[in-house]
Amino acid sequence: MSRPKVFISRRIPAASLKPLLQECDVDVWEDELPPPYEILLEKVRGTDGIISLLTDKIDANLMDAAGKQLKVISQYAVGVDNIDLEAATQRCIVVGHTPGVLTESTADLAFGLLMAAARRIVEGYEYVKAGRWRTWHPLLLLGVDVHGATLGIVGMGRIGQAVARRASGFGMKVLYYNHRPKEVRIPGVEAEQVDLETLLRRSDFVSIHTPLTEDTRHLIDRRAFEMMKPTAVLVNTARGGIVDTEALYEALKSGRIGYAALDVTDPEPLPPNHPLLSLPNVVVVPHIGSASTTTRTRMGDLAVSNLLSALKGKRPPHVANPEVLDRPECR
Ligand code: DGY
Repeated sequence: MSRPKVFISRRIPAASLKPLLQECDVDVWEDELPPPYEILLEKVRGTDGIISLLTDKIDANLMDAAGKQLKVISQYAVGVDNIDLEAATQRCIVVGHTPGVLTESTADLAFGLLMAAARRIVEGYEYVKAGRWRTWHPLLLLGVDVHGATLGIVGMGRIGQAVARRASGFGMKVLYYNHRPKEVRIPGVEAEQVDLETLLRRSDFVSIHTPLTEDTRHLIDRRAFEMMKPTAVLVNTARGGIVDTEALYEALKSGRIGYAALDVTDPEPLPPNHPLLSLPNVVVVPHIGSASTTTRTRMGDLAVSNLLSALKGKRPPHVANPEVLDRPECR
């Protein structure tokens, strides 16, 4: 029997690939940059499975270009906003993803960004590197306190809850907003569910942890910034498109809010001449929320396990379109 054909759109940790190489013919895109869409169309033709990244546009056209034998698209990420899930379900294609394994690493980075913005750590480093550190001064690089402050979490899912636990350890008060209201209990953490307006008005720090969907695109827009405190810090480790970038730029430039600390941006990557990067009150890192060696390997293991399970007709550990498993015509 011929071995299943699999395309992987970038190099992932080698250890995760071993079980895949034993059972499948694997083609890996070796470049640092993602395959351009036209090349992706070529590469997926005739494959049974694809391991995709958040930088790949996986639409109906691509699924059709792959062919009817395509059984699974296994995303090497928890977010699947780059994949047309409905089109996949219609074509009986299982979409896997990697929730859970990256929760704590992403929460670590969100909290790191929050601290960096609050205490102006990156500005401090730039100041020292520029040779401007001449003395201790009572008014030098004054920031805002994290302890005792209020953190508003937009999207109290796995990562939001992990951030709430960290915040609670720092003596912060935690508010949260869920797009579909849902009471969340976290052992040892006091957190109050509020509507978005209340969260924006009361929070000293607002941290975004909701997926990007048509409902959440530009959830944080000009109106939202008008509700925030002038000292507020916005942290985004979810998806850039949840924030209206132009409105964010204006809010930061005019002092409408205090600071932004971003792991994700829109556009992404942010070009070096982007106006946001000309502002002193912004910290940007290049979408590294899950970027620890251990976590990226776990993501690889899970992406491979999702893919192999689906190829064998078994229920994969994590499916983003579970309704596909119940469609009689897909069995
Ligand atoms: C995800 O998983 O969606 C992150 O953005 C990358 O780890």
